[in-house]
Amino acid sequence: MKNFYITTAIDYANGAPHLGHAYEKVLTDVVARYKRLAGEQVHFLTGIDEHGQKVVQTAAAQGTTPEELTNRVAPMFVELCKCLNISNDDFIRTSEKRHKDVVQAILQDLHDRGEIYKGTYHGYYSVRQEQFVLEKERLEDGSWPELYGEVVEIEEENYFFQLSKYQDWLIGFLKENAFVVPAFRQKQVLEFLKEPVNDLCISRPKSRLPWGIEIPFDTEYVTFVWFDALINYISGVGYGTDKFSENWPVDYHVIGKDILVPPHSVYWPCMLKAIGVEPPKALLVHGWWHLGGQKMSKSTGLKIDPIEFADTYGADSLRYFLTREMNVGQDSDFTLELFLGRYNADLANTLGNLVSRLLNMAGRNCPDGLKAATVEENPEQDLKGLWSQTHDVVVQCYEQFQFHLAMEKTFVFITALNRYAEIRAPWKLAKSDDPADQEKLHTTLANMAEGLRLANAFLKPVMPEISDKICGLLGQPPIERWDGLLNWSNRLEGQVLGGKTILFPRPQAEGE
Ligand code: MSP
Repeated sequence: MKNFYITTAIDYANGAPHLGHAYEKVLTDVVARYKRLAGEQVHFLTGIDEHGQKVVQTAAAQGTTPEELTNRVAPMFVELCKCLNISNDDFIRTSEKRHKDVVQAILQDLHDRGEIYKGTYHGYYSVRQEQFVLEKERLEDGSWPELYGEVVEIEEENYFFQLSKYQDWLIGFLKENAFVVPAFRQKQVLEFLKEPVNDLCISRPKSRLPWGIEIPFDTEYVTFVWFDALINYISGVGYGTDKFSENWPVDYHVIGKDILVPPHSVYWPCMLKAIGVEPPKALLVHGWWHLGGQKMSKSTGLKIDPIEFADTYGADSLRYFLTREMNVGQDSDFTLELFLGRYNADLANTLGNLVSRLLNMAGRNCPDGLKAATVEENPEQDLKGLWSQTHDVVVQCYEQFQFHLAMEKTFVFITALNRYAEIRAPWKLAKSDDPADQEKLHTTLANMAEGLRLANAFLKPVMPEISDKICGLLGQPPIERWDGLLNWSNRLEGQVLGGKTILFPRPQAEGE
């Protein structure tokens, strides 16, 4: 059976990871974990993009070499994955032999078959974006869009991939397939394709850029960084070997909106077409995080160190915030205030409160294990009714990448569990000797525990560590598959619950 194969973009290895990188990994991880829980065999690839001008420029600015820089930065991204509980199966570096060999074999093959030709490029080049830009892109006052940074005029001999030849095929493919999620972004691609596309310049003379994968048929050149980087998605899963079909075609490339058009939606499907490989099944495109309404940027210093942040507040809390706040596809704003608001309201006061109430009451009233739920009145029926609705809606939200809603609905249910506890007031029932009150007391605790067990299954993709902890407190093994675990049951009857635990300690205010 083919794996569910999912990737992130590979991040430029020219600096420490920032919140945008962290988000993309968390988002992809939530999908990967959800798919595993739903019973699929998953292969999840992430990694870093080590070539190109950005790396060369940063290394030069730091008075070091690209090798030294990327070797220093690579472990930071590996560490990011580890500290955010990212469940990637592999981590690819584009400097690895397995990758370089595939890139060179593809270049040679395309050259041998006339798909790559040599030509002269004369025009303008954006140093920041590492791409050629067209005269028509100039603004009215003659300057270039800010996005391009410094634009210089150049003329040089280069190799070109016959991208234009595939334009009609690509348009047809996009008209027949829901390729880009969310759908409105697919329209942007078709809009771009209304104009004729140019052939893609896939080489850079070593005299200008000595860092990259050498072109096998002309050692004066290295490959354009995007041509190299996109290939990671197939070199990372054994392209050219029998193992390749275990993963390809990829189910989702998860990327940010800035790298959809043209690299992932135009270059990549056409490159694959040219080498006779099936296109990706889909691209999942997320929006951008801003910091307090402003763009994160290395130049303004406006950024958050996700590793430090996760160390301070807990990886799962950060994962929860990123998932809960971002409607995949849209942009979102990150501020410490918003984060602490969610942390306190949802995690500490709703989930944390439910867990500590339950453990407290169960420790005091059923030290030998939870008793059966024997009372079935309105509060119990309401709760079970809400679970069955929540179940259906949340599964659907997960399936449709509406993770913010999946979390919202799960927390509505957790809030309802707290409300149920307040209606039944087990702390009062515990003081009564009336057998009817004792039945109600044990029913309440059993239902609170069962409700928590169920809600916790939906927390697992987003907060894996917390979810495992809650399972431990309920005397259950960590959740591996949802199958058979999502219906209201008496599975916890007789279970002794764990001792008092604070899942979400009050975060320390600055300077405390
Ligand atoms: N190296 C290329 C990708 C090559 S993929 C074959 C690249 N690297 S990047 O480091 O600039 O960006 C990596 C990913 O992080 C991209 O998907 C990008 O959209 C994402 N993000 C970068 N900043 C971001 C935010 N502020 N918010 C959310 N994601 C953002 O592009």
